[in-house]
Amino acid sequence: MQDAHELLHAENIEKYYGVADLRTQVLRDVSLSLRGGECVALLGPSGSGKSTLLQTLGLLQDADDGTLEIGGVPVIRDGKRCEGFEDNRGKNIGFVFQKPHLIPFLSVLDNVLVSVVLDHAPTSAERERAGRLLAQLGMDALGGRMPSELSGGQQQRVAIARALFPEPRVLLADEPTAALDAVRGSEVMHLFRELAERTQIAVLVVTHDTRTLNAFHRVLKMADGELVEPTP
Ligand SMILES: Nc1ncnc2c1ncn2[C@@H]1O[C@H](COP(=O)(O)OP(=O)(O)OP(=O)(O)O)[C@@H](O)[C@H]1O
Ligand SMILES: [Mg+2]
Repeated sequence: MQDAHELLHAENIEKYYGVADLRTQVLRDVSLSLRGGECVALLGPSGSGKSTLLQTLGLLQDADDGTLEIGGVPVIRDGKRCEGFEDNRGKNIGFVFQKPHLIPFLSVLDNVLVSVVLDHAPTSAERERAGRLLAQLGMDALGGRMPSELSGGQQQRVAIARALFPEPRVLLADEPTAALDAVRGSEVMHLFRELAERTQIAVLVVTHDTRTLNAFHRVLKMADGELVEPTP
């Protein structure tokens, strides 16, 4: 770990899909760092490997080679999972996807609490914390509603609150505004930046929307499985 503020540090990540003759390389020697408090965009043509990179950094897919540290703790070394890999995924990584994927028969508040609801009846402290997260995202009055009673942008805010509930150090979002109109999309991107700055988490957002790039501290670009300049 070179920098005390680095929350994620990836070096020489390589990944292949398929076997034998069909084996193709999708990540080539990818190295990057994310520091606490920064909101970074990841751009690149369709098929360039953005989702694969995000899922590999988020420990949803294995790498074939390379090293990954999260919060200074090694989670992948030489492409192999280190001890605590699964714990790290649950505790340190939050994910937001293109669609909110809320559970339709749970209230907004219970959707934020879903990781708890599946395990035990939420405590009052947990309910209060979920309510505070919704309030920080401008959704204070909406905890009792059902997802179908929200707009697309509001639903995506619930998905962001759900991702933040376990207090991850790194938030990864894959085209989180693709289903939103330009205004709502821009609001969500600025929300990510504000969150990063206020809570000092690191946020990495895959997007095709160049109109919202002013919300980011840095922009990374991928082409054919590689990070291209500007270099991280
Ligand atoms: N499960 C898989 N098996 C085999 N190949 C895959 C698999 N998932 C993705 N690929 C291939 O890997 C490459 C990178 O895909 P990836 O989904 O990471 O691209 P992307 O940059 O996110 O594209 P998009 O902008 O369209 O979402 C593509 O060539 C894709 O066809
Ligand atoms: Mg993708």
